[in-house]
Amino acid sequence: MLVLGLESSCDDCSAAVVREGPDGPRLLAMTRKSQDELHGPFGGVVPELAAREHLLQLRGVIQGALDQAGLGLRELDRIAVTQGPGLVGSLLSTFSAAKAMAWREGLPWVGVHHLLGHLNAARFGAPDLPFPALALLVSGGHTHLYLAPDWTRLQLLQKTRDDAAGEAFDKTARMLNLGYPGGPLVDTCARAAAGAAAPFTAPRFRDGKSSWSFSGLKTGMKLRIQAEPGLSEAGAGDPRVQGLCRSLQETVADWLMKPIPAFRDETGARSLIISGGVACNSELRARAKETAERLGLALAIPEPRLCTDNGAMIAAAGALLTPQADPWSCNADANLPL
Ligand code: KG4
Ligand code: ZN
Repeated sequence: MLVLGLESSCDDCSAAVVREGPDGPRLLAMTRKSQDELHGPFGGVVPELAAREHLLQLRGVIQGALDQAGLGLRELDRIAVTQGPGLVGSLLSTFSAAKAMAWREGLPWVGVHHLLGHLNAARFGAPDLPFPALALLVSGGHTHLYLAPDWTRLQLLQKTRDDAAGEAFDKTARMLNLGYPGGPLVDTCARAAAGAAAPFTAPRFRDGKSSWSFSGLKTGMKLRIQAEPGLSEAGAGDPRVQGLCRSLQETVADWLMKPIPAFRDETGARSLIISGGVACNSELRARAKETAERLGLALAIPEPRLCTDNGAMIAAAGALLTPQADPWSCNADANLPL
């Protein structure tokens, strides 16, 4: 089955052609346009600008993926497109385009939940992963741990009470004037560090329930930066900045891995899947490997270009779903439930 996957839920516009076969999905072509330069001066995504930019990028992104694959629209078997959650303007542009193309070519099509897409990114490297799996989906908008009985279902186990982990990276990069987007820059800076600064204190919850919180981490970072004159302007080459970045990502990786052993015991999970933009983080990848080995879990973390938002993951998820029964009345949904 040949599937065209389209994703534009936030600031990336991406298309991919995937061949789904008995051995799982194979990526034939992928294009992606980032809007980093557009949003960089604002230090974060401006929704209205993102939506307008998608309209301009969409045609070239889709045509580029089809050209790379050497295929025309008519040769496809299915179109899969992100339906939500995300920024509604960003979602609408691509969702409408997908419906229009499907209508014109008479193709089956399917709307995909963004998080099911992130889960299925792991299918490219590990199609035979044993289930059930613990799925940690961690990005700029989500920090959620699920139990996945298979590649199409997610049952929530634990999530952040406030910010997503990616926010802590992005805000830290902003406070240290490292640039935008923050995650990869903090990661590079941390890897250059001779050692980590002091760790951050983990939040404690009065109700005793296992969960995450990252807003206090942002404040903790702010206070440390303010305590050292000139630090916010010192730049990525400064050993104090590097030490703080190292400490931040060690803390985040530590917190994210902490509940895994207990949930493995509780659920009998056989695998650990980590996906979403923050899954690119070098420290998290290393800690996840240690944790999985210690617990005897199979580990699946997609290659970095498939961890961040991309069309391939939407195609891979869309290949496993039933195409839309009532196609044209259905619309994008900024808060789409799982
Ligand atoms: O999945 P994604 O592309 O978009 C959302 O659905 O949010 O994730 C983007 C997030 C951003 O917060 C970005 O800073 C973070 O992933 N990120 C990283 C790294 N690469 C991207 N965070 C830490 N380390 C990285 N290497
Ligand atoms: Zn995402």
